[in-house]
Amino acid sequence: MRTPLVAGNWKMNTTVPEAVALVDTMLNDLPFIQGVEKVVCPPFVSLDAVRQRVSGTSILVGAQDVYWEPKGAYTGEISVLMLQGMVDYVIVGHSERRQYFHESDQDVNRKARAALDGGLRVIVCVGENLAENELGHAESFVEAQVRAGLAGIETLDRLVIAYEPIWAIGTGRAATPENAGAIIGHIRGVVRQVASGPAADAMRILYGGSVTPDNFAAFMAHPEIDGGLVGGASLNADSFVTLTRQAAESTA
Ligand code: PGA
Repeated sequence: MRTPLVAGNWKMNTTVPEAVALVDTMLNDLPFIQGVEKVVCPPFVSLDAVRQRVSGTSILVGAQDVYWEPKGAYTGEISVLMLQGMVDYVIVGHSERRQYFHESDQDVNRKARAALDGGLRVIVCVGENLAENELGHAESFVEAQVRAGLAGIETLDRLVIAYEPIWAIGTGRAATPENAGAIIGHIRGVVRQVASGPAADAMRILYGGSVTPDNFAAFMAHPEIDGGLVGGASLNADSFVTLTRQAAESTA
């Protein structure tokens, strides 16, 4: 039985005071929802403030990215060393990073390995674009991303995969639970091939892309889908709390 996970990716939204206000509103309900892992991923500059607010509660904190070198002349980058003690999770390979900042599968793999080596938990994002989807290449495209992203990683117990079709992110056009579940099942099969032992069955694989309180319960009802990586709907405390409740209820 895998514990569901709901992670809110705030992206480049919220000033520090806004981030604190958002998490403070969530604190009214979120800590009391059990049976689901809850992660908020504010921008770097708000991590410390948000971490202080949630400290002692069941809410976990994630960063939206990390660089693989521990320190040095990499202007603007943030290392694992800097995140240790501040976050529980880090997201790597989000499609916006791949698209706008030209991150390759190899970069994503370096980031994932550095974060895991540094003791963090990692959410590796994968997902095909519309053209690949329409050509019927979603499975093979995502499979290649998973194989490259996980290359050389031996222990998968701190790793989560998020399947986020690019055409569904921020568009209001979510995948269907059936299609997302089928791709996620395929991803689990790939993990089964690259990892020994029970890792694939224990791994949480999330869906992301226009998740809302109106569609999420149907995703959570699919046996392959273990949670959500949520963008827009995580910026509203009520909807994020509702999504978290739906995830908790899916296992009841
Ligand atoms: P969205 O974003 O929920 O706003 O579609 C999801 C994501 O990019 O993680």
